[in-house]
Amino acid sequence: MTNIDFNRRRFLQYATLGTLATSIPGFASTVNRHLNQAPDRAFKPDVEIALTAQTAEIPILPGAATRVLKYTGKLLRGPQTAIKQLPSYLGPILNFEQGQKIRIFFYNQIPEPCVTHWHGMHVPQIMDGHPIYAIPQGEQYVYEFEVKNPAGTNWYHSHTHEMTARQVYQGLAGLITITDETERRLNLPSGEYDIPLIIQDRAFTSGNQLYYALNMHQRMQGFLGDTILVNGQRNHVIPVKTRAYRLRILNGSNARIYKLGWSDGSPLTAIGTDGGLLEKPETLPYIMLAPAERVELWVDFSGYKTGTELALRTLPFQGAAMGMGGGRGGGMGVRGGATEQGSQGTLIRFTITEQVSDSPELPDALVPMRRLTVKDISNSDKTVPINIGMHRMTFNLNGRTFEMLNYTEQEKIPLNTVQKMRISNANPAMGRGMGRGMRGGQGGGMMGMMMAQPHPIHLHGQQFQILSRKPGYADNAYATVKDGFINSGWKDTVLVMPGEEVEIIKPFMGYTGLFLYHCHNLEHEDMGMMRNFFVS
Ligand code: C2O
Ligand code: CU
Ligand code: CU
Repeated sequence: MTNIDFNRRRFLQYATLGTLATSIPGFASTVNRHLNQAPDRAFKPDVEIALTAQTAEIPILPGAATRVLKYTGKLLRGPQTAIKQLPSYLGPILNFEQGQKIRIFFYNQIPEPCVTHWHGMHVPQIMDGHPIYAIPQGEQYVYEFEVKNPAGTNWYHSHTHEMTARQVYQGLAGLITITDETERRLNLPSGEYDIPLIIQDRAFTSGNQLYYALNMHQRMQGFLGDTILVNGQRNHVIPVKTRAYRLRILNGSNARIYKLGWSDGSPLTAIGTDGGLLEKPETLPYIMLAPAERVELWVDFSGYKTGTELALRTLPFQGAAMGMGGGRGGGMGVRGGATEQGSQGTLIRFTITEQVSDSPELPDALVPMRRLTVKDISNSDKTVPINIGMHRMTFNLNGRTFEMLNYTEQEKIPLNTVQKMRISNANPAMGRGMGRGMRGGQGGGMMGMMMAQPHPIHLHGQQFQILSRKPGYADNAYATVKDGFINSGWKDTVLVMPGEEVEIIKPFMGYTGLFLYHCHNLEHEDMGMMRNFFVS
């Protein structure tokens, strides 16, 4: 039996469980499992899109085309700008406006179940792409939601039970941009000066096919490819003018973390993060960007002479490679040779081709933002724990792996509350199971170091704010990443380094039901490092 057959069987078990679940006594019966397969006549969409997941052959490397899974899109109603095709395996860029009502007819034409999640968007449970709503090949699902999020950069991707990692790897992902009034007043670089950069690492066979296989080591640290693709292209070079640009960067990789830096050593200016624009621009020497995280950069090429080149690189860092220190400085781009987490490499090159003199100024202030504090927490004596653990070589959250419909008492969140949550990555190797037999000789040594992994933790629903970060080991490895975190903006994914403890504040307004939280290292997610919050 192949893996896919096995997964399909598991999926069918869930599918048939649908009717059963309501008769099982307990909380699971309160979950709405209705597949939204027909449009709601009362819902009047401003934008209507047909989005199809299908198999395709796309040229990526010179020579043979690559078999991929691809979202293709077609605009049925709304402004022409609502959808923009990318010449690659990636899905079209969807451009929305705050307040718009969106209807997406999603057609699954791949030979396995699929479901689509609108990562970063605040939408009702049945529109959120929870794996309970996966549909088999040939079916359709209708997503209808209003854009509540402010201006910013989100994305969409498959979220199929135990298949997310492979389906996203094979191509099922795309970018979403949102604009609003406040943003328009800022006159940020737009049009050709507003550039999306979707960074992904892949590995190819000698026949140019996507290579995806996981040994034990790769299962633990997630899939790492040796070839960097930006917007689906290798060795991507973008010609630019001597003026300011807005770069919307998404780390769309399964497991690779980037430490963004400019090749000439100049600092980076961030204007936005996962949840939208920052209150004011922030300057950092480098920026850590974990899977699913977004950062928007302001880059001004006006100081550069035509003919020069500036590259966005990933710089070496430590504390993330499994085994010993990692980041041995090996370069990427070598076909066939896997590169460690923390390796350096070039992501994208900009060549300055044209002299212009109409560059806009970087605004001092961007968008008003209310900083949430402990005073905003609804139940100030309660902190919701998200403890990263490990048992039988599988990462978990609060000692449990994913259960499709279930949640524990502490995962019940009262509707319209603001919660404080503490994500702890404190030595999972010493947790239940792993600790046993590893104390003494090997305890904090080899195994402990091997299992100490960074985890990008993502929460569905509304964006949150970071309240505090407490490094576990303020050691040399942490020193290589610590100045690259943006803690001031709205976030939906936060990188939690080994030993680290991150406190966040998150509102749960408007929508009841199941909302996932999980590691966005997609291999970790698929192995069960995911849980539900139940908002009621
Ligand atoms: Cu982008 Cu639940 O994920
Ligand atoms: Cu999400
Ligand atoms: Cu993880």
